[in-house]
Amino acid sequence: MKDRYTVKKYNADGEINAGEIEELKEILTLSPSSINSQPWNFIFVSGTETKNKLSEVSFHNTEKVIESKLVIVFQVLKSVEDFETQINENLPEMAVTYYKNMVQPLGEEYIKNWMAKQVYISLGILLSACADMGIDCTPMEGIKPAEYDKILQNEKYESLFAVAIGQKSEADKNQPVYSPKRRLETDKVVLER
Ligand SMILES: Cc1cc2nc3c(=O)[nH]c(=O)nc-3n(C[C@H](O)[C@H](O)[C@H](O)COP(=O)(O)O)c2cc1C
Repeated sequence: MKDRYTVKKYNADGEINAGEIEELKEILTLSPSSINSQPWNFIFVSGTETKNKLSEVSFHNTEKVIESKLVIVFQVLKSVEDFETQINENLPEMAVTYYKNMVQPLGEEYIKNWMAKQVYISLGILLSACADMGIDCTPMEGIKPAEYDKILQNEKYESLFAVAIGQKSEADKNQPVYSPKRRLETDKVVLER
């Protein structure tokens, strides 16, 4: 965690390891979620044409999307109805009952928010995995999700955020060696009672 950091500048000629990317697919698939709900899709975009299109709707992240080798787009199921069909088909009765008693009664807005939270867990998993594997990456909420959706055409899902993966530029000023980690003090955020 001390060594990982958000890459701000990639080496466009850098390589990524295909075997490691396959591992990341499996790691994402293994992410935990409430009642094992898994309301997600992860779209791996490595083709230059699609990456370039995404770069144009990525605000200050344009260059990162272009110069990284891969962009993983994290998506969530759009409709609560589709989500309920998925859990009915895949989860044990106990989990579905928990959902029906504890989540469903709270209404559509709550359910959608709850589903998105599950997708963020998979972001934490991915960032930790990248840290462990020494993979350079950038989490990016600074994208236009609706524009991403038009480009990616994954009908039942909508984009939430993305992660760029590539090889950092040695000139990246955001590396901890040039830009030491800034965090609130542990005793301000971790309390004991
Ligand atoms: C959910 C999320 C969204 C983020 N969005 C962006 C982004 O769009 N562009 C960017 O350069 N950094 C983005 N960041 C990086 C954060 O600014 C960064 O994690 C934070 O400043 C801590 O720095 P570090 O990751 O280098 O330790 C994002 C981080 C997270 C977790």
